Amino acid sequence: MPILYDSEACIFRLDAGKFSYAFCVDEHGALIHLYCGAHISDTALSYLKFPLWLSSFSPNPPGGETQPFTLDSALQEYPQNGTGDYRLAAIAIRGENGSTATSLRYRSHTIRKGKYTLPGMPAVYAADNEAETLDILMEDPLTGAEVHLLYGILEEYSAITRAAVIRNAGSAPFWIEKAASACVDFNRMDFDLVHLYGQWAQERQICRTPLSHEIRSIASKRGSSSHNHNPFAALAGKYTDETHGEAYGFSLIYSGNFAIETECDAYNSTRLVMGINPIDFEWKLAPGESFATPEAVMAFSDEGLGGMSRTFHHLYRRHLCRGEWKEKIRPILVNNWEATYFDFDEEKLCAIARDAADLGIEMLVMDDGWFGKRNDDRCSLGDWVVNEQKLKGGLASLVERINQMGLKFGIWFEPEMISPDSDLFRSHPDWVLCAPGREPSIARTQYVLDMTRSEVRDYLFDAISAILSSANIAYVKWDFNRNLTEAASAALPPERRKETFHRYVLGLYSLLERLTSAYPHILFEGCSGGGGRFDPAMLYYSPQIWTSDDTDAIERCRIQYGTSMVYPPSSISAHVSASPNHQTGRDTSFETRGNVAMAGAFGYELDLTKLTSEEKALVRKQVAQYHAYAPLVQDGDFYRLLSPFENENGCAWMSVSADQNEALVTFIVPRTRVNFTSYLRLAGLDPVKKYRVGENGPVLSGDTLMNAGLNLSQKWKDGDSLLLHLVAE
Ligand code: DGJ
Repeated sequence: MPILYDSEACIFRLDAGKFSYAFCVDEHGALIHLYCGAHISDTALSYLKFPLWLSSFSPNPPGGETQPFTLDSALQEYPQNGTGDYRLAAIAIRGENGSTATSLRYRSHTIRKGKYTLPGMPAVYAADNEAETLDILMEDPLTGAEVHLLYGILEEYSAITRAAVIRNAGSAPFWIEKAASACVDFNRMDFDLVHLYGQWAQERQICRTPLSHEIRSIASKRGSSSHNHNPFAALAGKYTDETHGEAYGFSLIYSGNFAIETECDAYNSTRLVMGINPIDFEWKLAPGESFATPEAVMAFSDEGLGGMSRTFHHLYRRHLCRGEWKEKIRPILVNNWEATYFDFDEEKLCAIARDAADLGIEMLVMDDGWFGKRNDDRCSLGDWVVNEQKLKGGLASLVERINQMGLKFGIWFEPEMISPDSDLFRSHPDWVLCAPGREPSIARTQYVLDMTRSEVRDYLFDAISAILSSANIAYVKWDFNRNLTEAASAALPPERRKETFHRYVLGLYSLLERLTSAYPHILFEGCSGGGGRFDPAMLYYSPQIWTSDDTDAIERCRIQYGTSMVYPPSSISAHVSASPNHQTGRDTSFETRGNVAMAGAFGYELDLTKLTSEEKALVRKQVAQYHAYAPLVQDGDFYRLLSPFENENGCAWMSVSADQNEALVTFIVPRTRVNFTSYLRLAGLDPVKKYRVGENGPVLSGDTLMNAGLNLSQKWKDGDSLLLHLVAE
């Protein structure tokens, strides 16, 4: 049983794979956290209660004078604001009396088969026989707030999902100022904080620093999860590396403003709170109404950060991604963006498609610029009508021609945006997201549509459906190229305007749900100026996401390495682009560009008609390699071997099949050195199996390859790389 309740000691113990988690209800009805970490066997864990250091500066709850107890130092499951715990709160509710003091007490709980769902929001899902749910009901008698703390366990995975659902069971409205998805307290602070920061074209760079006595925040206020911070953090033991040591991963299934905050207090305990960013957030809950937080996923590994990543990869690939494509090998596509930018017509696209078909590429994606009168980025967003001056004969005829060449056809949209120079804006200027009385800020000559409004979503559903139904479309790239400003919907009453950011995200999810259900055969790819919304929630709607607008293979090493911290290779969209690269101007060999892109959902992003015959031969080779290796890459176990964040001269990763009979090793030399020495120790192999290394290479046992490694000491040039296929004999 993954969820145990010891009714005498009032202790809950949750066991998920190698992960145990425990808390109890104390005599005051508070939920006191006891344990989070590697699997343990006992349930009598009350002895783990954190010592209660008392002074007059640590208040006792009302009626607690006789029994020394303070929330100020207690480890808690879901700490509340303003009632004696001065650390970061998980929840703050403002009642009608204007006070934000919140006090929740345990009332009851249920343990049931199956995994809870969060209506209208993405969440991990499972069949009833694969999962269990613990639902703890807490209540605040003054405001009438009932808070359901939900815990989901899929026994096979060392991960626990969490969310909170708040219901107003009282007779007056109240306002939620903060409602975290999860909080975890540790009775120690000897951790490093690992997170992913970045910017446009440089997403998900790994940062690792020790925690200290302070509050840290990884957050977004941009209305999307953002290029700048990813909704992920890990706490790693001091000696934890990729393969050894404890790692606690925290990932939020949310695409909007989020915050993952850590606080180490004077007693050397650590609190991590994650959820919707409380800044610019408030939610009015009328009597009878409910509010659900997004879902948080906590993963534990005693096999280092690599083990944590593999848990996220498999969980998200199998239990978060949905639809026909989630476990299918993704088609090799060619996208015309970097090939033509806005300068294309049907003949140019057909010329690229002809070469693509000849080379074995499977799909042509027509990017930005096919609609309205859009020939640059200054107009027409919102006018989702084919520009027949550009695509003479219209979309259906173009798609037919492409299909006749044996290629599938994909198309680009940026649904959430509106250009001031668009018919949509001229007829609905009020659909722009903007605070009443203010002028909207502009970015890339575009405004954001108010996705909180159902009429906006209905318009988008109809306009997009009209295109998707008009031709044989197999793929949609869903772009989002700016962040939100003046986010206070005019459609909401003033006292609800701080709900706008979250309502925007809910509106987006509802539109995505409608479209992905209406077009189940279409493969959706998420995108936001590259990887500005690369988060687990988007994976629920689109099993792959454009990773970055930086397509330089050497830059991509870091970006993809960082992205792999949480996201499965099958979700990491990666293309071979032109050299010199358009973003960095760097020259990189065709082989290396292919080897780096081979680690994800593979494709091309260049003008195939301009390739030399040698390059075309290399495309054919890469296409064949992709067909041979994609099952291994997309469904295998992923191991990071050599970090480009720690080494200038080498970067390596590998994929291993579930039966450990096959592996694919990628090694890249971003910058070479004189007398280059490298012994690359592999991982994840069966120590006793013998593997042939490369087609004509030596046969070595798994333990040799993992402990002694491969000798890669040779003369390498900047940007060289190696792709090695290992097969057990
Ligand atoms: C940003 C995307 O990341 C690019 O791939 C491309 O689709 C452009 N937008 C088009 O405007």
